[in-house]
Amino acid sequence: MEKAASAEGKTLSEVIQETAERYLNHRGIDRLLYLWRYNTDGTLCPPGDTSPVPPPYLLLPPDGKFPALIEWNGRQYEHLRMGIFIARDATDWDVADLFDRLSPEWDGHTNLKFNRAVYRALAVKAVRHRGAAPVAKVLDFVSGTGLGFSVFRKLFPRANLCAFDLSPKMASRSKRKGYCMKSLSNNRLRIPDHDIDLVAGAFVLGLLRADFWIHELSRILAPGGVASFNLFNPPAGWEARFSKLFSGAGIPLCHDALSTFSGGGKEGKMHLLIARKQ
Ligand SMILES: C[S@@+](CC[C@H](N)C(=O)[O-])C[C@H]1O[C@@H](n2cnc3c(N)ncnc32)[C@H](O)[C@@H]1O
Repeated sequence: MEKAASAEGKTLSEVIQETAERYLNHRGIDRLLYLWRYNTDGTLCPPGDTSPVPPPYLLLPPDGKFPALIEWNGRQYEHLRMGIFIARDATDWDVADLFDRLSPEWDGHTNLKFNRAVYRALAVKAVRHRGAAPVAKVLDFVSGTGLGFSVFRKLFPRANLCAFDLSPKMASRSKRKGYCMKSLSNNRLRIPDHDIDLVAGAFVLGLLRADFWIHELSRILAPGGVASFNLFNPPAGWEARFSKLFSGAGIPLCHDALSTFSGGGKEGKMHLLIARKQ
């Protein structure tokens, strides 16, 4: 793994725990993000002041798996990633706000080579579904810290590479890597209709809360353009939901298969979804 930017020897669990707690204290409300913990005896306990046990906490459950859904105080929370549960009524902006807080430490706790390998696979496989047409414009949809830039620059040396991320801090990191950053205006991406040939979405599809993003991607894709995503931690019932969502948006799925991704000494199986604009 490449070197941490400013992690000061903390584990990702500690960083997430602190940021989530700061976040909760800052907002002072219960509807947004919750960090639940497993005690050493395997019982689950809710976050913050309601926790019956003092720190340090064990963040990973004994079997290594977090439940997909939990209920607490009559509310339902879904597992977002790594022990963070999110209220079912949280918005995309709430998710992006969490990533904003995690952004300074993010690269230090990510296997950068593996994520770049995922980006590469997303692009290479998407191009196969596009046919011979050249790729002139690429959108990294939720670029995080901008890991995809170097991958796309190599694959598409002459293409226009742009990106979007809802977290301002992630977006500014991406910009420094070389991306032309796109913003939102009145809930629309500032990108003209039918402008983009290839959209790559790495580690994002399971995070999206609103369907509207997929409709936006359909709007900006040129006819024959493709969008590819890996699916990390898929939400329950995702097959039927995504198939309907992508078809309804005018970019039906043309590929949906479990794929092996490898890079940076890591290998993982995830679903790879490719949608094609009609
Ligand atoms: C797990 S990171 C992945 C970043 C990057 N694709 C990578 O693989 O390194 C998820 C990113 O999604 C962004 N994000 C989450 N929900 C979003 C949304 N609805 N629209 C745009 N960005 C979103 C977060 O700000 C964060 O940068």
